Amino acid sequence: MNEMTKTREGAALYQQHAYSAAAQKALDRKPALFINNEWVESSHGATLPVEDPSSGKIVSHIVDASDRDVDRAVAAARAAFDDGRWSGLPPMAREKIMIRLADLLDAHAGEFAELEAIDQGKPKGMAAAIDIPGAISQIRYMAGWASKLGGETHAPYTMPAGLVFSYTLREPVGVCAQIVPWNFPLLMACMKIAPALAAGCTVVLKPAEQTSLTGLRLADLIALAGFPAGVLNIITGNGHTAGDRMVKHPDVDKVAFTGSTEIGKLINRNATATLKHVTLELGGKSPVVVMPDVDVATAAAGAAGAIFFNSGQVCIAGSRLFAHRSIFDQVVDGVAEASAFWAPRPSLDPEGHAGALNSKEHFDKVMSYIVAGKRDGASVVVGGDSPSDTGYYVNPTIMVNVNPQMSVVREEIFGPVVVAQRFDDLDEVAKMANDTCYGLGAGVWTKDVSALHRLAAKIKSGTVWGNCHAMIDAAIPFGGYKESGIGREQGRAGIDAYLETKAVIIQL
Ligand code: NAI
Ligand code: MG
Repeated sequence: MNEMTKTREGAALYQQHAYSAAAQKALDRKPALFINNEWVESSHGATLPVEDPSSGKIVSHIVDASDRDVDRAVAAARAAFDDGRWSGLPPMAREKIMIRLADLLDAHAGEFAELEAIDQGKPKGMAAAIDIPGAISQIRYMAGWASKLGGETHAPYTMPAGLVFSYTLREPVGVCAQIVPWNFPLLMACMKIAPALAAGCTVVLKPAEQTSLTGLRLADLIALAGFPAGVLNIITGNGHTAGDRMVKHPDVDKVAFTGSTEIGKLINRNATATLKHVTLELGGKSPVVVMPDVDVATAAAGAAGAIFFNSGQVCIAGSRLFAHRSIFDQVVDGVAEASAFWAPRPSLDPEGHAGALNSKEHFDKVMSYIVAGKRDGASVVVGGDSPSDTGYYVNPTIMVNVNPQMSVVREEIFGPVVVAQRFDDLDEVAKMANDTCYGLGAGVWTKDVSALHRLAAKIKSGTVWGNCHAMIDAAIPFGGYKESGIGREQGRAGIDAYLETKAVIIQL
């Protein structure tokens, strides 16, 4: 344990700051579900506590939706889809309403950032810089696709010219069940709803049970923005009950999920009975490769940000660091030095760059990985401990003397823990980088353009970053190879995932 921060002075450092009146108002609201543009009570009155991970205190309650609640939300989305009140609007009108939602979010950005900080544990400043603008950009970008979804005409291969006229229509898939995790709650929610809405689908969205506050606040803006009733319904509750009901519901046409690989596989199986369309964005164990030619200080700071941003609770976290043998010690020293920037603080501390982990359950999981790593023979360079007895803080942690059999090297920890390994040449590091069941992201640090392109080709992952990490943009497709997922979000691929293609063939 870090003795200095466990003193009385240290304890003060980890005191959560006061909430604003606007945030308190959102916390004080009565638990309810947003269905058909109205706040409705649950059928059974069961609730779940909302905890502030910076203090460990219960600060609000949300509905734990019952099967009947889910059925009600799906029925609303089904009716709204089937009568064409959304898909039948001129694309210009859909675009306009989506842009209005983005504008409303923008107007309330500070409040959303604070709610995200209270609920998730991340610094309010980070939520204000990354999560909220990111969420808004997803909506703005996808809104533009609403008016660009035409099909094509086709010249048949086996038929003489002029015999038939054939064209394709792009049509919305239908009712979408969207289930999101707790690491970037509003951003993930908007990454899901934006393409669905642009395509003309209707939605039942379920935020994670740990982080539903911004999703519920978003619901307030839905009717204000002008969405017809039933187009976007937001329900809260547990995954194994409410989430499961959404996935198995016969009136749902598509499931989109971001979360653990384990639950992603389960959802894929459960969606099969009714053969729903499925998009899955799952776990990762992303490599960060540092080639021998780099400016060490720059690359080390980048590698530190790759793992310690959002306290490592990032699907694309650079959790496996590979540094060339000739500079390994300097890179590890540099990451250790840069880790001070990412020391955890209460989420409303304006000086903080990283926060507490999201829950006690998750804190225990991350700490148990650190214990397992040490037991297996890994050495801790910095961190490995928690700086406070209240809240779920874990110090940025670097482990060396690891091998590919250890759980800290193989499994997604989803915390501020990086394992560092040496390599000698490009082919070897490509092999090491690919020695994982995951394939979500990878970072390569080098000034050698040829090495960068060669590694970009060799690494099996949905994204490869050069001299940066975790850069995400609404126009650039995002998703996983291997067990990191199925399908792509964002960009043209992201909107395509919410469209069916209908071929029309007419004999003339
Ligand atoms: P999870 O995958 O169980 O939960 C994510 C979402 O899925 C939540 O909204 C949850 O309510 C829902 N869900 C859970 N079970 C479901 C089911 N049977 N049917 C339908 N929906 C269901 O993740 P959890 O339990 O919060 O965290 C477990 C571990 O997963 C974490 O410790 C972390 O390592 C990893 N994780 C990875 C994420 C990523 O983006 N790669 C995101 C969240 C968690
Ligand atoms: Mg779970």
